Amino acid sequence: MSRANPVAGRPGLLPWYNRNRERAAQLFGLIADEAYYSRPIALRNPIVFYQGHIPAFSFNTLIKQGLGRPSIDARLEQLFARGIDPHEDSNNVRARGNEADLWPSRDEVDAFCAEADRQVRAVLAEHDRAADALPPERVEAAHCILEHEAMHLETLMYMWHQLPLEQKRRPAGYRPLIGGAPPAQTWIDIPSGQATLGIDPGAEPFAWDNEMPGCTEQVPAFRIQQHNVCNADYLAFVEAGGYVDARWWRPADWAWINAEGIGHPLFWQRDGDQWLWRGMFDLLALPAAWPVWVSQAEASAYCRWRGLSLPSEAQYQRAAFGAPDGQPRRYPWGNAAPDAARGVFDFHAWDPQPAGSHPAGCSAWGVDDLVGNGWEWTATAFAPFPGFEVLASYPEYSAEFFDGEHFVMKGAAPVTVRELIRPSFRNWFRARYPYIYASFRCVAGAGQ
Ligand code: AVJ
Ligand code: FE
Repeated sequence: MSRANPVAGRPGLLPWYNRNRERAAQLFGLIADEAYYSRPIALRNPIVFYQGHIPAFSFNTLIKQGLGRPSIDARLEQLFARGIDPHEDSNNVRARGNEADLWPSRDEVDAFCAEADRQVRAVLAEHDRAADALPPERVEAAHCILEHEAMHLETLMYMWHQLPLEQKRRPAGYRPLIGGAPPAQTWIDIPSGQATLGIDPGAEPFAWDNEMPGCTEQVPAFRIQQHNVCNADYLAFVEAGGYVDARWWRPADWAWINAEGIGHPLFWQRDGDQWLWRGMFDLLALPAAWPVWVSQAEASAYCRWRGLSLPSEAQYQRAAFGAPDGQPRRYPWGNAAPDAARGVFDFHAWDPQPAGSHPAGCSAWGVDDLVGNGWEWTATAFAPFPGFEVLASYPEYSAEFFDGEHFVMKGAAPVTVRELIRPSFRNWFRARYPYIYASFRCVAGAGQ
C-alpha cells in the first residue's frame, strides 16, 4: 500500500532547491581538497559519496522514476543511489584501499552533478511557472528530494565536524558564543492532556510517511526540565564514574562503551586535568552552559543515574506544542515564523549556544530550546503511527528503520534548515550513534 500526498505544491520549489544547492556548495567550500576522499566517520562512505548522492537521489527520484526520463550515467546513479546506516560493529562498508582509486574522479562527479542539477532545476522551474505542471505524485517527489537534500546538509556538517581542524576553513567573522555558567535549572509542571502526534495527509504541503496519519495520546501530568542538560551538569556524571558503572547503562550500551573504550561524550576531549569541546572550527575550554551533545545511550545513562527518564515522544510533543488553552501550536513560541530570536537552527551558528539564551523561543509552559540548539532525544523507539502507509516516492525511507533499534529525536540542531521545522517532523538514529547533534533533558513523574 502506498499513499501519495494529495496536496498542491507550495509556491517556489525552485527557490528552495537553489537555497539547498547554494548551501551544499558553501559547505563543500569549508573543507580542504585533501579531505574529499577521506572518511571522517569510519563506518560511513567517504565525502565523495555524499557529493554524488544528493543530486543522484534527486535525479533518480524526480526525473528517472518520477518522470520516466533516461539515465545520465547509470553506473553513477547506482553507485550514489543510497547511503548506509551503519550498525556500530558492522563491516558492510565498501572494500578499503586507496579511496581515490575506488571512487570516480572529482571532475567526473562534478559533471554528473551538474547535469542532474540542470534537469531537476528545469522541471521545478516549469512547475513554479505553471502551478499545475506536475501531478500530485510528482509534487510529492519534488518535496521528497528537497527535504532529502536538506537533511543531508546536516549529514555533511556532522561529518565535517569529525575532520581535523586544519582541513576546515572557518567562515569569515564566525566566533562561537561561549557564555558563562549554565542558567539555573528549574522543573516545569505540564498538566495532563492530549499530545498531538503526526498529521493527516494533506494537512501540510508535504510530510514524510512516518508523520502520518495524525493521532493523539493522552499524557498524564509530568515535570520536565526547563533547560537542556548542559556540559557542566553532565560533567558531574562523568566525574562520578558514570562511564565505569554498569548500573546506569542498558546491557547493549554497556557493551558498546566497553568495547569502544568510551569514557566521555564524543565532542569532549581530555587535556591534562581540563576538558575541552571539539567545536566545528575550534578546540575550546568546555563551555559549561552549552547543551551536552550525546548519543541516546549516554543520555539514557545520565537520566538513570539521576533517577529520572528521557521524555517520551508524546511528552515532548506536549511540552513543545501543547498549551494551557488546549490549542496545539505550530512552534513552541506560537505561530510566528522561525527566526534567530527563537532558537539556534537554520545555520544561525556552527556550534551550540548557551542554554537559556533564546527566551523568545520558550514553549507555552516556559520550556526553553525545544526547537534548536541540538535535536532532543526521546525514550521512544521509532515506530509507525496506526494507519501508516509507505510513501510512494520513497518506500524505504522510514519502513526499514522500524526495528526497535532506532529512537525518535525531535526539534532541530543549529544546522537544521527552517523548512524542516514542523511539529510532526520526526528524526531518528541508533542509540549508539554518537556523531549527531543531539541534546536532551530529563522528565519526572508529577509527584517526583
Ligand atoms: C532521517 C536523518 C535519519 O540521515 O540517515 C537521508 C535521512 N534518509 N537519506 C539519515 C535520510 C536517506 C536519515 N534521517
Ligand atoms: Fe540519502
